Amino acid sequence: MAQYKAPRGTHDIYGQMALALEELDKISRNVFRKHNFKEIKTPMFEDVSLFTRSIGEATDIVEKEMYVFEDRKGRKLALRPEGTASLVRAYIEHRLDMEEPIGKFFYCGDMFRYERPQAGRYREFLQMGAEYLGNPNPNADVEIILLAKEILSTLNINDVVIHINSLGCANCRPIFRQKLVDYFSSIQDLCEDCKRRLEKNPLRLLDCKIDSQKFQNVPTMQECLCDDCKNHFEQVQSLLKSVDCKYVVDDKLVRGLDYYTRTVFEVRSNAVGSQDAICAGGRYDNLVKELGGQQIPSVGFALGSERVLMAAQNTGFFDKLPKNELVFIALADNELFNEAFKFANNLILNKDNIRQKFNLQNNIVVEGPFLNKSLKSQFKLADKLGASKTILFGKTEFDNGKILVKDMKTQQQQEISLS
Ligand code: HAM
Repeated sequence: MAQYKAPRGTHDIYGQMALALEELDKISRNVFRKHNFKEIKTPMFEDVSLFTRSIGEATDIVEKEMYVFEDRKGRKLALRPEGTASLVRAYIEHRLDMEEPIGKFFYCGDMFRYERPQAGRYREFLQMGAEYLGNPNPNADVEIILLAKEILSTLNINDVVIHINSLGCANCRPIFRQKLVDYFSSIQDLCEDCKRRLEKNPLRLLDCKIDSQKFQNVPTMQECLCDDCKNHFEQVQSLLKSVDCKYVVDDKLVRGLDYYTRTVFEVRSNAVGSQDAICAGGRYDNLVKELGGQQIPSVGFALGSERVLMAAQNTGFFDKLPKNELVFIALADNELFNEAFKFANNLILNKDNIRQKFNLQNNIVVEGPFLNKSLKSQFKLADKLGASKTILFGKTEFDNGKILVKDMKTQQQQEISLS
């Protein structure tokens, strides 16, 4: 029994999963770059008030999920629970609005939330996100949704449902809010969370897992949208239709972060179980200003890498992960170790195009040589590692300036001259 285990809600990533994550990273980066998004890396921890202010005091994330700690100088910090707040902080701090005429950024990294762990829900998880700052028009919302969809379909994840909603703006949201307060106040036996949130954040009652059965004919944001927001939402839908992107309008979609205005969306997959949101985002027109910058309307999304890979389990993505041909260097005589070692090193560096000369693919990986191992156990190891070729250094052949190349599949051997 191992003495130590990874902390609850965290997980080690290795083997196929590590390869799959690398591939997802590569694919996403290609898509982001193709759309002119540029990478930004921000610290894993920030001043706690950055998150409290942007995500909202009365959200689950801020109320109970943040990893908050004090450093040795008494600064109150938090491990980042998401990437948008940090990105906006960096954007304002470095005056990126002056440097980058179009504010398109992407990020990849670990996020931390103290949630109850279950399949697809971790306390440390990976997100890949994109933020488009400075474009107030509906086409930016649609570009962001299509960007997410493009990454997913590159992984063959097409069996998804895109839920969209509009949360209105500072003009119309208060009307909806009041309607909700009036409505929920008339419901008996609300759960403790709902009672507490009723005044502070009534929108969150809409996705309460405990009480949702009790809510019939709940007022919807659609009924309350002002003309501008209605128009914006209609244009988003019309653009989505024009590119044949299927979606459902979901009145109940309110999201767990307070910075959203107008369009919000979630991409859900049945292949992931109850934590079915593999990607989510929306518009946040006031956040940059609220954090001390200009009024810069923006929109973005983040996908949860672990959940995306769960959704990719049966799409053939894992079968198509790049595999490199493995070449095993075996040794029949310890005396030749240095020669074999040098040869392996030349193969790794592809010195003087040595791979081509030995008819090896360009993307080979090289293993060996090993000292003090019987030939039998070396071949067994080569088999176990899935080597496609074994190159054998034997005394007689080497003295004649040759080595033996064995094809592990056909078992055919060929002597090749070292010169
Ligand atoms: P979010 O919905 O909180 O939005 O998270 C985005 C995605 O991260 C989720 O759809 C899910 O796939 C993944 N995720 C969230 N929590 C967990 C968890 N505990 N374990 C595993 N995966 C998780 C945001 O974070 C916003 N910053 C998105 C955004 C960007 N909105 C505008 N720009």
